[in-house]
Amino acid sequence: MSSYKIIDHEYDVVVLGAGGSGLRAAVGLSEAGLKTACISKVFPTRSHTSAAQGGISAALGNMGEDDWRWHMYDTVKGADWLGDQDSIEYLCKEAPKAVIELEKYGVPFSRTDDGKIYQRPFGGMTKNYGNGIVQRTCAAADRTGHAILHTLYGQALKHKTEFFIEYFALDLLMKDGACKGLIAWNLNDGTIHRFRSHTVIIATGGYGKVYYSATSAHTCTGDGNAMVLRAGLPLQDMEFVQFHPTGIYGHGTLITEGARGEGGYLTNSKGERFMERYAPKAKDLASRDVVSRSMSIEINEGRGVGKEQDHVHLNLSHLDKDIIESRLPGITDAARLFANVDVTKEPIPVVPTVHYNMGGIPTNYKAEVLTVNGSEKTVPGLMAIGEAACVSVHGANRLGSNSLIDLVVFGRAAAKRAAELIKPGMPHEEISETETQKCLDRFDKIRNSNGNVGTAELRLSMQKTMQSKCAVFRSEKTLKEGVDEIRKTYDGLENLSVKDKSLIFNTDLVETLEFDNLIRQAVVTVNSAYNRKESRGAHAREDYPSRDDEKFMQHTLAWCDGKNTKISYREVHKSTLTNEVQYFPPQERVY
Ligand code: FUM
Repeated sequence: MSSYKIIDHEYDVVVLGAGGSGLRAAVGLSEAGLKTACISKVFPTRSHTSAAQGGISAALGNMGEDDWRWHMYDTVKGADWLGDQDSIEYLCKEAPKAVIELEKYGVPFSRTDDGKIYQRPFGGMTKNYGNGIVQRTCAAADRTGHAILHTLYGQALKHKTEFFIEYFALDLLMKDGACKGLIAWNLNDGTIHRFRSHTVIIATGGYGKVYYSATSAHTCTGDGNAMVLRAGLPLQDMEFVQFHPTGIYGHGTLITEGARGEGGYLTNSKGERFMERYAPKAKDLASRDVVSRSMSIEINEGRGVGKEQDHVHLNLSHLDKDIIESRLPGITDAARLFANVDVTKEPIPVVPTVHYNMGGIPTNYKAEVLTVNGSEKTVPGLMAIGEAACVSVHGANRLGSNSLIDLVVFGRAAAKRAAELIKPGMPHEEISETETQKCLDRFDKIRNSNGNVGTAELRLSMQKTMQSKCAVFRSEKTLKEGVDEIRKTYDGLENLSVKDKSLIFNTDLVETLEFDNLIRQAVVTVNSAYNRKESRGAHAREDYPSRDDEKFMQHTLAWCDGKNTKISYREVHKSTLTNEVQYFPPQERVY
């Protein structure tokens, strides 16, 4: 038996993660009278949602005519026809309500002269089914995520959500295919905690740190995704990794797409506005996969800027100073701080940078986790929301500002569904000690690793492989090399060294547990990419340049047992909830 003393807790629902989706779910659950715990490895307002800049999409029509059906069309098309249309319909229809709710909770949105929520243009957001740009992205200057996060944390406290802050979740507790709770380690005092709950809602965000250069915070290690893999459940569409066109060159910090929404544009070494060639209608506001690929082509063909000709320029100096000051203050600071650039005078050096994971834990539009056993079925007691989930509203490519709306719409949906399924105070089932022991044995093994390779070395090897072999453009050759290299890095786990054995704020151990989570996601990402022999959205195969709807209009499901993966596919949901609207793919996406 384990030597760790366990402290037990019972909650109706446990929310794992305190970013935008986790907090929105926690508010709804607590409002519904469910005893709710919210567990987070960082202080809630330090969650990565705070880095979201440009805004949150909703067809409010504050800046001209708009319609949720147009938003849905853009999202289905932007997703390159891999999104589930029932989920997308739900997202776009619910979006206006969810944003108005945020306004009532107190989010300090920027305002129009007549006091409405200000909305800016964003990539891929159009009016009347692709006929012109629409202003659909609601903004709080260029600090929208930060504003939402702080407001929701305040609301969660007001509604008496109980927070367990700086607790690192280790594993789910499963029984007969259902989730019964989880185990977490309190970083502050070293104690181990077992949470029993009728539902666990995973809201742990993306796993951007699998790559070397990412806009993601260091905490974006996809801990919930890895817990799902270890529970024997699949992840979905992991090959679809979004590169944001404008990460600061050499640093990775995000420069919001809102900068192009306000009139900024990209140029190459000849000073050409090259997006006019690649996307004659949408230009710099084409969807991100298109812009990132165009930038990569410019760089690969020798038209990049700088000594190494390995990036391009984002120009803002022609914009009105008032616009820069009032709507883009955050990126003005970031450009000064990280690129030593005064945006009113000089262009910002930018390069496509890993930004978002379209893939994650498969769910339906009620946030219930799905698995496939012959046919689709839900996993009792387990939900997932936000970037950790693949609901799948973003399919193969997410439109900018559809992430923040995904967080709040599905955070809210999860709370609603949980309130339908759970009565406050329902009794809990016993959990077998074997499950608890399994989790603690893994923890103990990692803690007592006495090999001779440091975590940082292995992590760097994983990140460099992913960055070069599973990049904007991929091929059979690079992906095969990627699969082999990642397997080798995985083998390094056997020879790991964790020097600090203590249990209190042991960052060596935290980083090693995070690496153990990351490497499993690297394994499924590169294997899923290797197996998808077509190009779609963010997955651009040089050897299969076209989309193949006949074979691959399907979600990838990947299970992982250590370094071995099993891949299977599941149908994309082409029908909608109401059959009011449904969209079918044209051969090509025209921008
Ligand atoms: O460019 C941005 O402001 C990022 C927004 C998003 O990823 O949704």
